[in-house]
Amino acid sequence: MSCSLRPVGRAHRARFEQLTRGTGLFREDEVATAVELLDDSLAGNEDYQFVGAFEADQLVGYACWGATPGTVATSDLYWIVVDRERQGSGIGSRLLREVESRLTAHGARLVVVETSSRADYTPTRRFYEHRGYTRAATIPGYYAPGDDLAIYTKDLTTGDLARTPS
Ligand SMILES: CC(C)(COP(=O)(O)OP(=O)(O)OC[C@H]1O[C@@H](n2cnc3c(N)ncnc32)[C@H](O)[C@@H]1OP(=O)(O)O)[C@@H](O)C(=O)NCCC(=O)NCCS
Repeated sequence: MSCSLRPVGRAHRARFEQLTRGTGLFREDEVATAVELLDDSLAGNEDYQFVGAFEADQLVGYACWGATPGTVATSDLYWIVVDRERQGSGIGSRLLREVESRLTAHGARLVVVETSSRADYTPTRRFYEHRGYTRAATIPGYYAPGDDLAIYTKDLTTGDLARTPS
């Protein structure tokens, strides 16, 4: 089924939480942080922008990003999540491309993504690497002993937005 991209509303909050938890990758405090950012955004905080991917009325994925404070035209991609059952079917690529095209339209220059070095994040790192993201830095043991912070960046000024699989 093809999906459409729309804002994430208050009515999707429970499903949003379930989706995030359902990936099996995030700790409970991280799930709570994602929900908190959605609540902030719904309350009008423009530091956090969300777009949802929907099949009919069901939320099947989302991305969250925002301008990085204290920088000139750099943005952070804070979250990108796709329903576990639907991963690998192009939804994440669509969301990423949407985020990049909105950022480009607003004059953003650089996107920064933080992720983990853990083995269960290997497909996630591959997702970014195949979409023009370059590992710019690693902070050993940042999340936990043996769990490094991997920082990826992408230069949006080259015009090479993430492809959307057909
Ligand atoms: C990472 C994620 C957003 C990608 O979305 P997706 O819809 O599965 O990705 P797509 O179908 O558009 O693209 C598939 C690509 O992603 C990679 N990928 C990452 N996770 C995958 C998964 N669980 N299943 C299949 N492919 C996955 C594949 O290697 C594939 O790469 P390639 O086509 O360049 O070879 C999604 O898998 C996800 O929600 N993962 C768990 C949460 C997460 O890691 N979020 C990012 C950290 S904050």
